[in-house]
Amino acid sequence: MSRYAYIPELYDVRFQSPETNRQSDEYFSATIEGERKHFNIHDYATLYEIPWLYDVALYHALVCRTPTEMSDAIARVWSSDNVDPADFRVLELGAGSGVFGHELRHTLTVGHLEAIDICPEARMAAERDRPGLYDKYYVDDLTNLRPETSEAFRDVKFNVVSVASATGWGNHIPVEGFQKGFELLSSEGWFIFHVKPNDPDPECIELCEWIDELIASGRLKQHYRGSHFHRQSSNGSDIFYDVIIGQKT
Ligand SMILES: C[S@@+](CC[C@H](N)C(=O)[O-])C[C@H]1O[C@@H](n2cnc3c(N)ncnc32)[C@H](O)[C@@H]1O
Repeated sequence: MSRYAYIPELYDVRFQSPETNRQSDEYFSATIEGERKHFNIHDYATLYEIPWLYDVALYHALVCRTPTEMSDAIARVWSSDNVDPADFRVLELGAGSGVFGHELRHTLTVGHLEAIDICPEARMAAERDRPGLYDKYYVDDLTNLRPETSEAFRDVKFNVVSVASATGWGNHIPVEGFQKGFELLSSEGWFIFHVKPNDPDPECIELCEWIDELIASGRLKQHYRGSHFHRQSSNGSDIFYDVIIGQKT
């Protein structure tokens, strides 16, 4: 049985098949309360307002598998490193409705889990569809944190900072946001990231260069890098990302 079976199969989601490989140019329709409506896959505020809609579109219709691919890769690294996940204080960047948080909490069984997302509707969706998942969920912009958020984050001393499916494409977290996430991580803490190599999107290129530089300069000790299925595109092709798991030196 799919590990996403807990997401209810609602709305009869149907994707259009555009002549584009840009992940931000994908559209679908869905029946919401008897009416057929149209959505852009990257219009997060609108999608998160409707219970489970983002999750149904991504994890059922486009068969996104990044949360489970990443959590299985993390589990392999952590088990060979003999760590106890109960000791981890995790900050999840761009957490959205909480599907990767579900894996961190229930598959990897981390002890403490906080989230940040720029979009107020993201926290609303996580609290509505996955109540109690996060110990705290901040609505803030990682590139320009409010002083009170910065202070709260510094107090926690995160020893894991992780992100899934929130890189590239103009409306995801830019490199300055990931730089901030890396700064918030304690020394020897785990940085868990994924990038899309060989894509012409300028933000994807910038992020690949940034993570490569972190590793080359010795600031991140890479424990694992591997190519993993991300999801299907609405035009039928398969999309792969590189998952990177490392420790801040
Ligand atoms: C594709 S969603 C991914 C959600 C979730 N991680 C998942 O795997 O389903 C990307 C998320 O990044 C958030 N985001 C974009 N820019 C951000 C920023 N500057 N600071 C914090 N979150 C941001 C968006 O609001 C959105 O919820």
